[in-house]
Amino acid sequence: MKHVLTTNLQISALLLASFAGISGILSVSAQAADAPAPGTFRAYMANVVGPATQPIWDLGYAEKVTDADWDRLKKASADLVGAIPTIRKGGFSGAEQARGKTPAWQEWTKKMAAAVNDAKGAVDGKNQMALATAGDTLLEICSGCHMEFDPTAK
Ligand code: HEC
Repeated sequence: MKHVLTTNLQISALLLASFAGISGILSVSAQAADAPAPGTFRAYMANVVGPATQPIWDLGYAEKVTDADWDRLKKASADLVGAIPTIRKGGFSGAEQARGKTPAWQEWTKKMAAAVNDAKGAVDGKNQMALATAGDTLLEICSGCHMEFDPTAK
């Protein structure tokens, strides 16, 4: 009897924990709902760079990468390669592009271009381990530039 009670308590704790997890996810999607202003570098990051990076992070450590996944990765890495010139410019407005002229910005862009190249090479060779490594490197670079230029960027 006592054992059963303990088990029930543990289950309630588990339920509570998963509920907390769900509300965490809900608040994240609520934040994503306030969309960045169109035509801004923030919108470009959110609509192009983020979605093109996500499959690399999702699949780098996946148990299985199917042919359809590799196709998705091929498009994602091509989109990332295509994003480098815009990132190098710093964005679209004068203020965004002025920021893009700083050495620190150019340094982050250079690192990002190299990691994107690695990711594309991994995809072309269907090398999941290399993909995971490139994804890890990308994460450090995204976070590094965000920390330096916009600590509020996710
Ligand atoms: C050279 C600098 C730089 C690099 C590298 C960079 N970002 Fe960004 N990113 C920014 C800045 C700056 C912002 C904030 C928008 C602004 O100030 O224009 C941003 C914003 C974002 C946002 C939007 C966040 C929000 O608040 O809506 C996403 C998503 C994003 N970046 C994803 C990425 C990912 C993924 C990578 C790496 C693969 C990456 N970024 C690499 C500079 C960078």
